[in-house]
Amino acid sequence: MMAYHIKIRFKLLPGSRYAILLPFLLLSFQSQADTPLKGDIKNGQSIAAEKCDRCHGSGGISEDVDTPHLASQSADYTFKQINDYKNKTREDKNMYKRVRKLNDQQMADLALWFESLKLPEIDPSAKTNLKPPQVVAIGDTERAIPPCSICHGKDGKTTAEGVPILAGQSADYMISTMEYFKDGSRDNDPGAAVQTIVKKLSDIEIEAIAHYYAALGGRPAQIEQ
Ligand code: HEC
Ligand code: HEC
Repeated sequence: MMAYHIKIRFKLLPGSRYAILLPFLLLSFQSQADTPLKGDIKNGQSIAAEKCDRCHGSGGISEDVDTPHLASQSADYTFKQINDYKNKTREDKNMYKRVRKLNDQQMADLALWFESLKLPEIDPSAKTNLKPPQVVAIGDTERAIPPCSICHGKDGKTTAEGVPILAGQSADYMISTMEYFKDGSRDNDPGAAVQTIVKKLSDIEIEAIAHYYAALGGRPAQIEQ
C-alpha cells in the first residue's frame, strides 16, 4: 500500500521568463479535489489484467498506435483521466464503457499500478540527433506559447504530478489528442491551459511535436518517422 494524493505539483525551470505565467495556470490546476486515497498496486494489477490490458498492453505499453501507453504516468494524471472519462468530462464512448462502473478506490488502485510500470529505455545513441521543435524547447513569445518543456519536462518525462509524460507516447495518439484539444472535442484540461496553447499550433507543428516526443522515449515499435 502506498499513500496516494490527488495533487498537482510543478517543478519550475529556474530563470524561465514563463515562470511568471505559471502561478496563474497553477491556480486553475489546483481547483481539483485534493482527496487522499490509498491505492493498492496488487489490486490495480488484477483489475488491469481483467479490464485494461487487452488494449493498453500487459505492461501498460500498448501495441496499437491509437491507444496510449499508460506505463509510468503519474497516478494523479491517470486517476484524473479515468475519472474524466467516467464523468464524460473527457468524451470517449469506448473508454466510458470500460470505466463507468469503477469506484474511486479501484481507480486509485489502477492509477498506482500504471505509475509503477517502467517505460523501456531507448538506445541512448538513437537520441543524439533529435532536435526539439522550437515550441517544445523555447516556445514562441509572439504567439504567447510557453515552451512545452516547462511543464512536460526537458526530456518529455516530467515528474510533475498531473502532467503527462509525453516521451515515447505513440505519435498517432498524440496527433489525435492534440487535434481534439484544437477542435475543442477534448476540453478536460484544467483552466483550458493546454487547449489554449495547442489551438495556436499548426498541423505541421503538431506532427513534428508528436514525432519528436514519440522518438524521445521508450517504445521502438511505435516510432514510425
Ligand atoms: C477497447 C480498448 C480499451 C480498453 C479495454 C481500455 N482502454 Fe483505455 N483507452 C483506449 C483508447 C483507444 C484510448 C484513447 C481514447 C481517447 O482518445 O480519448 C484510451 C485512453 C485511456 C487513458 C488516457 C491516457 C492518456 O494518456 O491520456 C487512460 C488513463 C485509460 N485509457 C485507462 C484505461 C483503463 C484504466 C482501462 C481498464 C479499466 C482501460 N483504459 C481500458 C482503449 C481502451
Ligand atoms: C502549463 C503547463 C503546460 C504547458 C506549458 C503545456 N502542457 Fe501539455 N499538458 C499539461 C497538463 C496539466 C496536461 C493534462 C491535462 C488533463 O488533465 O487532461 C497536458 C496534456 C497534454 C497532452 C495530452 C497527453 C495525453 O497523454 O493525452 C498533450 C499531447 C500535450 N499536453 C501537449 C503539449 C504541447 C505540445 C505543449 C507545448 C506546445 C504543451 N502541452 C504545453 C500541462 C502543460
